[in-house]
Amino acid sequence: MVSGKSIVRFNATSKRCAIKLPALDRHSSLRRLMKTETKKIESLDTLFIRTYGCQMNEYDSGRMADMMKQAYGLRLVPTPDQADVILMNTCSVREKAEEKVYSELGRYKKLKEKRPDMIIGVGGCVGQQEGERIQQRAPYVDVVFGPQTYHRLPEMIKEIRRDRVCLTEIDMPEIEKFDHLPKAESHGVSGYVTIMEGCDKFCTFCVVPYTRGPEISRPVDDIIEECRQLLDGGAVEINLLGQNVNAYRGDGPDGEEWDFTMLLYAVAELDGLKRLRFTTSHPMEMTSELCVAFAEIPQLMPYLHLPVQSGSDRMLKMMHRGHDRETYFRIIEELRSHCPDIALSSDFIVGYPGESEEDFEATLDLVRRVVFDSAYCFKYSPRPGTPAAKSEDSVSEDVKDIRLQRLLALMREQAREGMQRQVGKIIDVLVEKEGRNPGDMAGRTPDFRIVHFKGQMRQIGQIMPMRIIEAYGQSLRGELIITDG
Ligand code: SAH
Ligand code: SF4
Ligand code: F3S
Repeated sequence: MVSGKSIVRFNATSKRCAIKLPALDRHSSLRRLMKTETKKIESLDTLFIRTYGCQMNEYDSGRMADMMKQAYGLRLVPTPDQADVILMNTCSVREKAEEKVYSELGRYKKLKEKRPDMIIGVGGCVGQQEGERIQQRAPYVDVVFGPQTYHRLPEMIKEIRRDRVCLTEIDMPEIEKFDHLPKAESHGVSGYVTIMEGCDKFCTFCVVPYTRGPEISRPVDDIIEECRQLLDGGAVEINLLGQNVNAYRGDGPDGEEWDFTMLLYAVAELDGLKRLRFTTSHPMEMTSELCVAFAEIPQLMPYLHLPVQSGSDRMLKMMHRGHDRETYFRIIEELRSHCPDIALSSDFIVGYPGESEEDFEATLDLVRRVVFDSAYCFKYSPRPGTPAAKSEDSVSEDVKDIRLQRLLALMREQAREGMQRQVGKIIDVLVEKEGRNPGDMAGRTPDFRIVHFKGQMRQIGQIMPMRIIEAYGQSLRGELIITDG
């Protein structure tokens, strides 16, 4: 039976979809889609979600699972071969993102050949960017959606089942998806809450402003309510998420606009909250009040991820980051004046177009001056539709590799020293889960280091003082100094 049709809902006039996509050959797309076997699904029971990318995507996948459970009673399964619905939540921030998606889809195609009734969906940032092109290349994909449309999934799936259509839904609606999501379910000790989305900064190398749209903040009351649900469900730690989380400006309960620091103080008041964290911050949105909050809010943990990308003023300017290296140093100085032991982490890009040896040396110099506890270091990769992609990718792959290795070597040294400094200290560890070795449990220090120790399952969710007895590259070993009886 061949009766498939494709529906594309894409608000082409929206300023938010700023990437200029090549004109699509709708007819050939339709023709190819017509050839796909149409679905006749009687019952859906199981769901598999493959998540790539940032914590915002992790959060979104969790919400998709909650939503599908509520709408269709779908149960999450650990592998795609048992699933009636497979969703990919994709990321397009760095190279080969699209290719990874297509090769993974190739595996799902084989599953669908055996079970034509299953539904395959591609969401997230590649979904947003590629849109209808995904179904042109992979006609067995039933639904393509973006980070701002996944709340419509239950409806879309109903439509797919009822009308035997393939859907692409990647507009960026004015209405907030958050208004349409079900109650958050708690999944463990640490809960995640997206408080703002999108990005208005338009760094020249980055796709995020195009895939996630402009910065939109959720109202304070909604955030507080979601945090409360997570705490009621057993979480003791809350992580507030946003592409530029400290750019938060949301409607407060008093009718005024609240900034990020005001929100932090309000969340910290919640009963049952033991630890509060947030990510990712932008240097241009750091305020003195936020630096002070690290000293004033006991639940706010001493760890900050503050991407800088480069230590060269010339590069920072070309990247359109909006600040220079001195500004970054000043922020760190202010932070450390209020919270001397704060652990710092950052993101770096090496080999941005035009980066000279001198520029790269300036990055190493910044790292030596600041001293980080961890960092994510990337080779620059041109992303379609971004301003930087129009410049020649002038730094050779070999030079990028060498610079990356040099930066990583310095980072490893700093990280190792940071870990070593913990040995002998007595530190409060929040027990999160079972460790890898038998009898081991794993938890985190306030400054976000992983600690393994001999413990028990029932300690999950408790904060336990431990003596740190050994440091490894990425983690610590601790010893309980008191037992919980
Ligand atoms: N909003 C955050 C970062 C979000 S993207 C911030 O501005 O700090 C996560 C990281 O991916 C960036 O910090 C950057 O280091 C890296 N990244 C983004 N685009 C990239 C590209 N085209 N090539 C290499 N790394 C990139
Ligand atoms: Fe990308 Fe820059 Fe926005 Fe971060 S601030 S998401 S790097 S454009
Ligand atoms: Fe990737 Fe989109 Fe997050 S591009 S990093 S999944 S915002």
